[in-house]
Amino acid sequence: MNAVNCHVTHLESPVDGSRFAPGIAHGTHLGRPLLVAYDIDGIRRSVDPETLRRRPPGMWRYRELLPLPADQVPVSLGEGPTPLLSCQRLGGALGVPGLVVKDESLLPTGSFKARGMAVAVSMASWLGLKRLAAPTAGNAGGALAAYCARAGLEAFVLMPEDTPVVNRLEAILYGAKVFLVNGLIHECGALVRDNAESCRWFDMSTLREPYRLEGKKTMGLELADQRDWTLPDAILYPTGGGTGLVGMDKAFRELRALGWLKTDRFPRFYACQSNGCAPLARAWQAGSRHAETFKGAQTRASGLRVPAAVGDFLILDAVKASGGRVVEADEERIDFQMRRACSLEGIAICPETAVCLEALENLVKDGSIGKDDDVLVWNTGAAQKYIECLEAPARRIDKNLPLAPQMA
Ligand SMILES: Cc1ncc(COP(=O)(O)O)c(C=O)c1O
Repeated sequence: MNAVNCHVTHLESPVDGSRFAPGIAHGTHLGRPLLVAYDIDGIRRSVDPETLRRRPPGMWRYRELLPLPADQVPVSLGEGPTPLLSCQRLGGALGVPGLVVKDESLLPTGSFKARGMAVAVSMASWLGLKRLAAPTAGNAGGALAAYCARAGLEAFVLMPEDTPVVNRLEAILYGAKVFLVNGLIHECGALVRDNAESCRWFDMSTLREPYRLEGKKTMGLELADQRDWTLPDAILYPTGGGTGLVGMDKAFRELRALGWLKTDRFPRFYACQSNGCAPLARAWQAGSRHAETFKGAQTRASGLRVPAAVGDFLILDAVKASGGRVVEADEERIDFQMRRACSLEGIAICPETAVCLEALENLVKDGSIGKDDDVLVWNTGAAQKYIECLEAPARRIDKNLPLAPQMA
């Protein structure tokens, strides 16, 4: 362990390799993310998979691979583990009967954003930061608000004015100061940056502080752990800012360096976007390492309404190295895929994941994914948070009349 009592050696810029000391607050370097580097040999000496198994389940069992000093109590609301659910009926309908969904809707605040915020708010609290601000497309704002409430910190959330109503209300409920902006998430992000100093905010935007990524990394750690250190053939991930995908890639690399994986082959990543907001898919098609800001972004998969991602090159590099693809799926099919999946499996599939299901159907049709492939789809949030997408007619019955004829 180092001076700050964890296995972090330094933070590193993937742009120019510059190194930064751990134990102090960091943002970006050259306007791009900083990545946390660990003493892998030191971790290998202090823990092994057998020891991990004996710890309580959940993301904090991977403590040595996280940046929070060992003597600090995490800010936690009880994060997972989330179940791996085999989905034969849905898989059958999509052409991959072996389909598995990892259901993150069960996490605190009903989305996988809890993982990132649990670590980032724990770190912010340890670093003595008091006023945390973030732009959000929806779920991250609720998660920031809840973890700040848990930590006794102030949360400031800036969101597009048409963000799903539950995201707005949950953030207010957890005590955050919530601001509705006449712009999209990247414009909310610019407001946070431009006003951070005058408002005394610390910028918690995804990939603009280094620790949300470390929290999201536990998606990959937990997945490998649950599968006894093997990995699926293909992973479909609904991609907005891309932190989860970059986090999984980092997790698999660190596990490989530790020698814990029973396989050398990484899953093919399929980063899925709606054609209503597909900057990364367009960059992929153009063979570019950076994405242009997507004009007129609009999708009911609100978490994917990210016209410009600061970690675009990290996402595109990870997908490319994996042998997968960035794909865009038809916005018009979200409602169908969401309803079919929920009704076939009883899992609260969110619209973002519905985008992955549409993409999966297309990838099976074009032969990119085989029917016997071991395929995993992330359900990143709970359907119930999207009441705008849920409206559906139900039949009324009269309690005073015979029931059977009314049901005919
Ligand atoms: C439910 C859901 N899925 C996926 C995403 C996209 O996540 P990422 O920013 O890691 O790409 C979001 C982001 O808000 C989300 O809320």
